[in-house]
This record gives sequence, C-alpha cells and structure tokens, in this order.
Amino acid sequence: QPIHLSDYRPPAYRVTHTELTFDLDPSATRVKARLHVERHPEREAGEPLELDGEQLALKAIAIDGQPLGDDEYALTEQGLRIERAPERFLLDTEVEIAPEANTALEGLYQSGGMFCTQCEAEGFRRITFYPDRPDVMATFSTTVIGRLDREPVLLSNGNPVERGELPNGRHFVTWEDPHPKPCYLFALVAGDLEKVEDRFTTMSGREVTLQIWVEEENLGKTDHAMASLKRAMRWDEETYGREYDLDLFMIVAVNDFNMGAMENKGLNIFNSAAVLTHPHTATDAAFQRVEGIVAHEYFHNWSGNRVTCRDWFQLSLKEGFTVFRDQTFSADTNSAPVKRIEDVSFFRTAQFAEDAGPTAHPVRPDHYIEIGNFYTLTIYEKGAEIVRMLRNLVGWEAFRRGSDLYFSRFDGQAVTIEDFVACMAEASGQDLDQFMRWYSQAGTPEIDAHGEYDYANGAYRLLLRQRTPATPGQPDKAPQHIPIRLGLVGTKSGRDLRLTLDGESLGTDGVIHLREEEQEFVFTDVEEAPVPSLARGFSAPVKLNFPYSREDLAFLQTHDSDGFNRWDAGQRLALLALDDLIAAHRNGVEKVMDPRVVEAFRELLKRETDDKAVLAEMLTLPSEAYIAEQQPLVDVDAIHAARQFVKQSLAMALRDDFLRVYQENVGDAPYAPEPEQIAARSLKNVALSYLVSIEDEEGIELARRQFEADHNMTDVRAALTLLVHSSRDELADPALRTFGEKWAHDPLVMDQWFSVQVSRPQSDALERVKFLMDHPAFSLTNPNKVRALIGAFAQNRVNFHRLDGEGYRLLADVVIELNRLNPEIASRLVTPLTRWRRFDETRQELMKGELERIREEKLSPNVYEVIEKALA
Ligand code: ARG
Ligand code: ZN
Repeated sequence: QPIHLSDYRPPAYRVTHTELTFDLDPSATRVKARLHVERHPEREAGEPLELDGEQLALKAIAIDGQPLGDDEYALTEQGLRIERAPERFLLDTEVEIAPEANTALEGLYQSGGMFCTQCEAEGFRRITFYPDRPDVMATFSTTVIGRLDREPVLLSNGNPVERGELPNGRHFVTWEDPHPKPCYLFALVAGDLEKVEDRFTTMSGREVTLQIWVEEENLGKTDHAMASLKRAMRWDEETYGREYDLDLFMIVAVNDFNMGAMENKGLNIFNSAAVLTHPHTATDAAFQRVEGIVAHEYFHNWSGNRVTCRDWFQLSLKEGFTVFRDQTFSADTNSAPVKRIEDVSFFRTAQFAEDAGPTAHPVRPDHYIEIGNFYTLTIYEKGAEIVRMLRNLVGWEAFRRGSDLYFSRFDGQAVTIEDFVACMAEASGQDLDQFMRWYSQAGTPEIDAHGEYDYANGAYRLLLRQRTPATPGQPDKAPQHIPIRLGLVGTKSGRDLRLTLDGESLGTDGVIHLREEEQEFVFTDVEEAPVPSLARGFSAPVKLNFPYSREDLAFLQTHDSDGFNRWDAGQRLALLALDDLIAAHRNGVEKVMDPRVVEAFRELLKRETDDKAVLAEMLTLPSEAYIAEQQPLVDVDAIHAARQFVKQSLAMALRDDFLRVYQENVGDAPYAPEPEQIAARSLKNVALSYLVSIEDEEGIELARRQFEADHNMTDVRAALTLLVHSSRDELADPALRTFGEKWAHDPLVMDQWFSVQVSRPQSDALERVKFLMDHPAFSLTNPNKVRALIGAFAQNRVNFHRLDGEGYRLLADVVIELNRLNPEIASRLVTPLTRWRRFDETRQELMKGELERIREEKLSPNVYEVIEKALA
C-alpha cells in the first residue's frame, strides 16, 4: 500500500478558511469544524470530496447548513467521502475524540495534565475530518473551551482575539491566524501553565511579544531558550532578510513528545528536553542543543511555514534547508570549526549507516508507506549537506539572492524541491541538472583518489573515481556532481601551494568538480611535492579514500590550513592504528601501540595555540560506532578492546600531560554556556577521561572531587560517567545513589541518570536496564524515558550485542509493546536490529530472529514498513 510521488495530483477541493471549536475533555473532547470549501481550479467539477479522518466519532455533518443523510456520505477507516458536493460550500462537522487515550502522541493528546497537539505529518486527521495534506492551505480561527481551574491557559496559533467566561466553571479563548497554513502547522495547548515573557523589535519596527510557557517548577529554566530565540530572530534578519510576521511568538514545553520540537505557526511546541536548561541540570551539549533547536523551529517560520511543501516527498525542502540554516547559525554563534566537526562526525556515523542499511532512501523518496518513518538523518542531515553544497557551488551572494527569490516567488504556497533549486540556478546562472541527482539517488558515493607528483614537470596528477553502491530499489547509480574543496600542502614548506588547473588559478584553497565516473585533474606549477588535503570542511557527503601513509596524516594533522581536515587527518591516523589492533585482537596476537599516534598526541598536548574546543575534538578518539562504520564486518568486542587499548596506551604514555591539561583548565568562573568556558570544560573532561581509563589514582580522585564539587551538570555528569564506566563500583554506586536521590524530582536529569548507567561497558548493563524499567521515574509511555533507558542501551556496543541475544530480545520486547502504544517511537527504536547484516553470523541469526518475532505481531504501518525492509 505504498504511496508514490509520481501519483501526485492537486486535491479536488481546497479549504480557504477553517473555523474550529474545541470543547475540551480528557475522555470526550468535542471538535466542531466549519470548513470553507471550494473546487480546485485545476480539477474538474463533480469529483467527490475526500477528507482524512482516523479514530473520530462523527456526531454531526452538514453542507451549507443542511444535515447530510446517511446515504450522502461514506465513512471508512481512513476518512469520509462525499460523492456529490457543490462548487463552493460550507462543511460543518462535529466529532468526539479521547485525548487521554492517545498514547501515540499524534493529534490531540494529554501530557501530564495538559492538552497539546502534534500534527506533523498526519496527526490532524486524528482531530477532525480534513484534507490532511500540506498543499491545502487555509486561514484558521480557533476557539478553545476549557475548565477555568484545570486549563486556565488556552493557546492556539496566531493572535488571541476574544476571551470570556462560560457557565459551569468554563471559559474560552478565540485565536485567529491570518497566514494561510496547512493543517500540519495547527496547534493547541491548554493547561495550568506559567509564562516567561520578553520582547523583540523586528528590523522594520514591529513589536513582538515572546512567551515561553512551562509548568511552574520550570520557570527558572527558560533564560537560555529565550536568549537563543532572540539571537535567532536577529540572525535571520541579518543573514536571510527574514522577519517575523505576527505580534506574538510562543514556545510551550511539554514532557511527552515524540520528537525534539514542532514549528506550529506562532505556537512552537517543544519537548521539554529541547527547551529547558539550567547550569545544574543541563550539560553544555544540552545548552547548545537547545539553542540549535529553538533556532531551527523559529527559522521554519519562513523555510517551512510561509513557504511549505507540496507533498511529504518534499519534506527535505523544509528540513534540509532549515537544518542548514540552524547549523550556520550555531556556527556563527559558537566555535565554527567545532560545530562542523560535531555535525560531520555525527553524520558520518549515523547517516552513513542509514545509507548503508535496509532503510536507505533518497533525500527525496519516491514512495513510502508511513511518512512518520521518513523523519530521518537522510532527509534532515543529508538534505542539509546538499543545501550546503549548493551554497558553496553558487557562492553565498547568489545563494542569498536565490533564497530571496524563493521566498518572494512562493510566499504562501506549497512547493517542490525543484522549485527551490530552480531559484538557485536562476540566481546564479549555473546549470544544476546533474546536481539534482543528490535528491533522487540514495547511498553514499565513494571516491577512490590517487595522486602522483611529477618531479620533472612540477605537476600533480589527481585521479578520482566515484561509485555509489546499490541501495534497496536502486541497483544502478549515475555519477554525481561532487564538489571537492582541496589544497595541496607542500611537504617542504608546510604551506598550501598555489593551485593551477588548465591554466587557471584556483588560489591555494580551491574547488574542483567531479562529474564523471572517473576524472583526472592535473595541477601545474607545483614547486614541491605535496600531500593533498581533500574534501576540506567535508565539502560533499561522500566517503573519500586516499592511500595516505601515516606520515602523511601526521603531517596534515599539524600543517593543514583547514581546521576540519586537520582534525580529520588525526581521525584517519587513529583509524589506521585501530585497524591493526582490531586485527591483532581477532588473531589473538599481542597488541602493540603505534608510536606515531602517541607522538601525534604528544604534539597536540604541547600546543597551546590551538583553539581549545578544537583541541578537545582532536584528542577524542573515533567512537566505537564510527570505527564500526569503517569495518567490512562489525566485530563489537574487537573494536571495544582496540579502542580501549589505544586510549589506555595514550593515557599511560602521556599521563602527566593529561594531568597538566586537566589542571590548567579547571576554571572558577561562575557557569556560563559560552564558547570559551565550554571549550575549557570539554578539554578538561577529555583529559580526565584518559586518566580514569587507566584508573590512575590521582585521576580517579579528581573525578570523585569534580563530582562532589557539583559546580555544573557538565562537570558532574562527565565525572559521574567516568566513575560509572570504570570498574570502581565502590565509587560509582554511592555517586549514582547520591545523584538519583538528589534529582528524583527532575525528569530531565533522571533521563541522564538512566543513560549513564545503561551505557556502561560492564557486563551488568542489561540487568540494570531490566531493573530500571521498574523504577518509579521510568515510563514506557514517555518517549524521553524510552530513549534514555532503552535507546541508550541499544547504543551500548558491547552489551546490546551480547552473544546470548538477551540485548536483542529486550529491545524486541519493548518494540512489541510500543508498537501498540506509540508506533512512531517503536519504529525508531527498532533501528539497531535492522542493521543485522553488518554483524557476524551468530549475531545475524539472533537479530533476525527477533525481527521475525516482531513480524508475528499485528503491526502498525510504521513498524511494518521498517520490519519488511529489514527482512527483505
Ligand atoms: N518539523 C519538526 C522539526 O523538524 C519535526 C516534526 C516531526 N514529526 C513527526 N511526527 N515525525 O522541526
Ligand atoms: Zn524541522
């Protein structure tokens, strides 16, 4: 039953104005809808009207005031159909729904005592009968009726225009949203909430009221989100010329939420984890995540809301562009090189794995069963990489002109990815036809590069060959247009050499365009033998192989002028050493540490000049997940042992340097989530992790004291993690107990408490998960809890992949339960099992067995689609 992009047709009818009245009640909310409907000009007269609707009890239906007889409409599982409808009419319906029974958290549901909504992608059909598709855009007028005592606050999109009291302790507020929008941007919130308020004056002088609505106990945790919001608003004006367009902008924090947040017009709804921060409860990483997500949702006001998607195949139109915008914002606000390193290392670990697995799909998929399964790293992150390539291809100025053109040409419309790229082509005069393949071809292109220096002629020949592996449904791939930013670093001078290609100068840091399957680039006037620095800044989302020697990599790690590639050279060097050790472990041979890696680290630790945040990244070994990505077959134990061995060898060889770096970076300034402090903390905590890895007594003592000093959550959590992941249970257990008791009242901190324990490498991790599932702070119906406990455990490389299969079984059991309660979360959670082909035969069988056991159930479309792909 998949839906195909090629089947797109405009709707037979459109809705120009939508009037809604909600009479709230946990078990029986009444929703009245009056839709102003008219035939779509591109469709013929006399076609049936089709409305989506799920789990709705229809109470009344009328056209232009005339109630419909039973034979004048048809109800199905999916919706309502009216065979004969006039050209233009008013449709009135009334339905009853039960928010308290809604555990899927799509549509109108309850979180704690409050009512809230999540409509993207297809949740609105669980609220009322409606053409639930993004190309139907209407203005909305919404009246919310609730109990004065239980729901003193009643919110919806736009501006409040009327409010009043009603009999029986009830009251109402009416909201009007003048901007036409698809129903996926509808939102309603009702409950006992408190607000923090601020103001923002836009570039044209509009006064905007900013509100963050939270439960009372969280009033002290909104400062950072508010400051981030104001920075984002200013940044979007300065960078993209985009101004806010209502008098009011609201954010609401809710505890039960499937995703990070949602950009509903004028009323963003956030997972509380994506908005609340406090130095004592949130880590630096959490502060930065909040800033990024607040900005992301705000930026959607233009890239998503004013200009939206024609259909859900175009999801990356808004998400790829908006992620690119929030990444750039965060880079401008914090350390740009570190932001890039973080984004790319995440991307290469998680998106590459998705691209290489059974659920691989293009950035614009051409079919799907359940769109909820396509809120993926490919749509979001790879989509953002494509937009970044576009920006680099056409240059910022043309890109900005293209963006202006896009927003003005398509304001108030629902459009396609072609429409967006066409604006970029028009603004730049460039041909982007081949480039469009990035949207239609799944899989990660791999480039094999070879270089040769011709001493006699002072020329450097670079041969590039590209290939995109087959992915499900796409056996053959055409060559992509791959922009490769590069430098040639002179081995004598240590400097970037001038690049001359076909008689044309590219400066010292240039871009070449690989368009064919195989292409040779000959650089002339190269005065000395160079080491090439390729794909600087990760200039394209590809795997690039070059036969670097370890000496080359050590050289690049110190001499590359591109900070990102300096870091990457270090990662490549470490990976080569790790490869040897993984092989040694498998062959039962004694492990020997590569002295070149030790020397490279010694160099790094001596360097005072480097940006501390970058240094912390450079001192961080590739994660086990990333190492696994590089292996033909994943051997979890060998990878864990090899990485541990490298870490401990470095710690032993450089113990005093790590200790010194730790001590030099213990600051005493009051906590602030600002770049310099964050850099010092991460450097300090990386150094500490080396010391604790060898159970250095002084290191352990420092960790213990850092935990007890309780300065801020970043330091407390880092220390707690080190203790809990060490084998010193006599220190770990009391620390966990102290922490758990102290924060029992704070769900977001308890999430961290869960994760820290179940990600430990010790063999009791699985037993801990089972034990903690009965903890009063855990709940299977709260997605944050599921992610913190079960999701974190499934990322625990050694223990999830236990050879007795108990890790897999536990995950499958939870997926089976969640399949009934919350299909969207269930289908995400099952992901690690779908990667079974990457492991040894024993594990393959075990994982497949669990997938087959899940398949026996009566599956939601979400889980069904993923399981079918995984077992295909
Ligand atoms: N548009 C939201 C965001 O990225 C995400 C909504 C996801 N919703 C869902 N049901 N998968 O900002
Ligand atoms: Zn988004």
